[in-house]
Amino acid sequence: MSKSLKHIFLPAFGGTAAMLALALFVANRDYGQSRIETLEGRVTQVQEQVTAAGDNARAEAQRAAELEAKIAEVQALAEARVAGGANLTAPAPQPANTYGLGRTAHEEEIAAWDVDVLPDGRGLPEGRGDVYWGEEVFAEKCAACHGDFAEGVDNWPVLAGGFDTLGDEDPVKTVGSYWPHLSTAWDYINRSMPFGEAGTLTPDETYAIVAYILYSNDMVDDEFELSHENFAEVEMYNAQGFVIDDRPDLEYSQWRTEPCMANCKPEVEVTMRSVFLVETPPEGGSESIMNQASVDGLPSFSADGPAFVPEPVAQPEPEPASEPEPAEEVDEASLLIERGEKVFKKCAACHAVGEGAKNKSGPQLNAVLDRPIGSVEGFAYSKTFQAALEEGRTWDEASLIAFLADPKGTMKGTKMAFSGLKKEGDQEAIIAYLRTFLDP
Ligand code: HEC
Ligand code: HEC
Repeated sequence: MSKSLKHIFLPAFGGTAAMLALALFVANRDYGQSRIETLEGRVTQVQEQVTAAGDNARAEAQRAAELEAKIAEVQALAEARVAGGANLTAPAPQPANTYGLGRTAHEEEIAAWDVDVLPDGRGLPEGRGDVYWGEEVFAEKCAACHGDFAEGVDNWPVLAGGFDTLGDEDPVKTVGSYWPHLSTAWDYINRSMPFGEAGTLTPDETYAIVAYILYSNDMVDDEFELSHENFAEVEMYNAQGFVIDDRPDLEYSQWRTEPCMANCKPEVEVTMRSVFLVETPPEGGSESIMNQASVDGLPSFSADGPAFVPEPVAQPEPEPASEPEPAEEVDEASLLIERGEKVFKKCAACHAVGEGAKNKSGPQLNAVLDRPIGSVEGFAYSKTFQAALEEGRTWDEASLIAFLADPKGTMKGTKMAFSGLKKEGDQEAIIAYLRTFLDP
């Protein structure tokens, strides 16, 4: 595969070992399939290596023999899986040879993923919340981006209004005007909002917020309470607005005819591969990078038949999770900055630092230490921050620590929609990190 092709396919497989493990659990059939795909993914690399190492041919022939034996083992395993593939709820298989990848998912892990809510309300947890409370929660956790009335701030999405604009050239698609199922709103908000702090809402809060969004769309009155009991009764405005596109020449119809099982090709040829294990670079960002450790440990199949399976690379001893032994001379200051950089990912949706940093939904944070509170040019601070500026207050280490631990408690009325850094030492780490942007 050419270099550029690799780049195209790299992001296609952002799975981590743990996700693989979950996939294994969910469908035995998929297990065999994805294993084979994973194996196939190594082919190209291996072929390159083989060409380069022409004079090692003999050694490789011997290796190939060994590996073919291993492949037979893997194939047998895959076939066994496919045979038993109908039972999707069977316990996860414990593969004989895991190549150092994946493990069986714990029940708790599956439960944490299994949160989807269906249009008829299946999957909803018990709970309730009314419009009044929803308004409060929304003001605290959502309004900074979506506006007090769900009307959207700047370019953040608007969640209310837009009725009867769907036929316009520039339709306003909101929860009210466009979404056909209320379950989508509940599910989406529960899983992914507040942006940057997903997963922090309780079921009751989510019911209340959804009730408030319905209210903002004039779909219920202010006395309304939403609960798991009356959820299915809410009628969405655009419920009938989606139709199945079953025109005969389109996908939907074509995939629903009886599949042709005659005159099949005698041979299958692999023409393309898309599997490479990738990971997010440590400095963050959306570009995936090759996970070299996993690549070196992966077996491979080739288009000309099975190639070889390298021995799994010995995994380096896992580093102790945090605090390294003080016995070793470690540069504590740079460790702290490193930790701060990681923690700052929680802030980066709203704050920029570094050269040319611009205000986002929060002010840029260059040289924030000893900076007057609320003083960044062109940023529309809350009244609280404006008052602090007038009083001549500045950020020092102590006030920053307190603010970051509990933004709403220390600066009542702040529009920083962030619940605070709760883990001990995180505030100090952030400050150490922010100090590196004193004079960009
Ligand atoms: C930091 C800003 C921010 C905060 C705070 C926030 N959101 Fe969002 N919200 C976004 C962004 C950005 C998107 C679009 C995400 C995307 O398209 O991937 C979004 C999308 C949504 C959508 C889908 C809109 C659409 O039509 O596609 C809903 C519904 C929503 N947010 C509800 C909420 C609720 C409820 C809260 C509070 C619990 C909340 N958001 C807090 C930024 C935010
Ligand atoms: C959802 C968006 C959001 C997130 C996430 C967020 N902030 Fe903020 N931040 C803001 C907003 C908005 C303000 C302005 C507050 C005001 O005007 O009341 C602010 C203000 C600040 C200020 C004061 C700046 C000044 O000019 O006075 C600091 C410091 C700060 N944030 C640090 C952080 C750090 C550190 C994190 C991560 C741990 C973080 N924020 C997470 C939105 C956010």
